[in-house]
Amino acid sequence: AFQAAAVSTGTLPDAERVRSFLNEAHVRYAGDLSGEVADYIPALAGVDPELFGLSLAGVNGAVTSSGDARVEFSIQSISKAFVFALIDQLVGHDTIRRSVGVNNTGLPFNSIMAIELNDGSPMNAMVNAGAITATSFAPGNNVESRWEFVLDGLSRFAGRDLVIDDEVYRSESANNGRNRAIAGLLNSYGAFSADPEETVDVYTRQCSVRVTAEDLAVMGATLADGGVNPVTGDQVVNASVCRDTLAALAAAGLYERSGDWLYEIGMPGKSGVSGGLVTISPGKGALGSYAPRLDPAGNSVRGQRAAHFLSGALGLNLF
Ligand code: DON
Repeated sequence: AFQAAAVSTGTLPDAERVRSFLNEAHVRYAGDLSGEVADYIPALAGVDPELFGLSLAGVNGAVTSSGDARVEFSIQSISKAFVFALIDQLVGHDTIRRSVGVNNTGLPFNSIMAIELNDGSPMNAMVNAGAITATSFAPGNNVESRWEFVLDGLSRFAGRDLVIDDEVYRSESANNGRNRAIAGLLNSYGAFSADPEETVDVYTRQCSVRVTAEDLAVMGATLADGGVNPVTGDQVVNASVCRDTLAALAAAGLYERSGDWLYEIGMPGKSGVSGGLVTISPGKGALGSYAPRLDPAGNSVRGQRAAHFLSGALGLNLF
């Protein structure tokens, strides 16, 4: 039935239809047990794998949810999309392209080989190398002031004061040798202006921020709405920054699976290893989801299936 409705129009369907399709997506995929919960730190490995939340925020500020949409989890790599926007707002389109990059690596999110194969280029801000480079541009004289800039920006996207999950932060910090190696390698190419160790610390903190599926929907809807948070009315970034961010997400938001994702869902999206996913429909709104089981590339299985279904049912596909 949803395929019959799959014609993109300029607006979201009415609230009643949105609610019934969100509920239908929840029912359809709640029984899907495929994929594995991330197990590289105990704080993620111990999570209930059955948690499943879906939320849609419209650019009109309406937020509709189904299931565990208010359960908090660490934002992980989804922070990369919003820190990209905050840094783009600061340094501009051309510097981002030159210093961070906007091309897909075709390799996993924490690949060191991708850096070597590309002469030290971080390649794009959605893989760890580019995300750490983007974070290195956060203004401030020390870790605390740079962290304040990032946390304040993420909070404005969400429309509430977000906080860090200390357990996740400690656990990630004790297991981030690979990210420190990435920052050290980038630094060895001479492209790093900030201290690499401090930058990885800020990056690790940003990954540990607690959000819900509803927060992700509102954060995504802010990018869909030309940078204006549709719930608070706060202009977080400029419309041109949203365009840059959504282009970067379309190219690399789901890592080496970004082509498959765009082909099937037809919208920019960003995943995180804790099981969150945000999918943005420019001019209309965004879907946020939470379901911890991941495919081998580190993307939420139920989240991707729900996004596929809802892209069709709600007529969100851009193409
Ligand atoms: O930097 C890392 O490796 C983690 N803190 C976040 C990685 C992540 O979310 C990858 N996504 N699927």
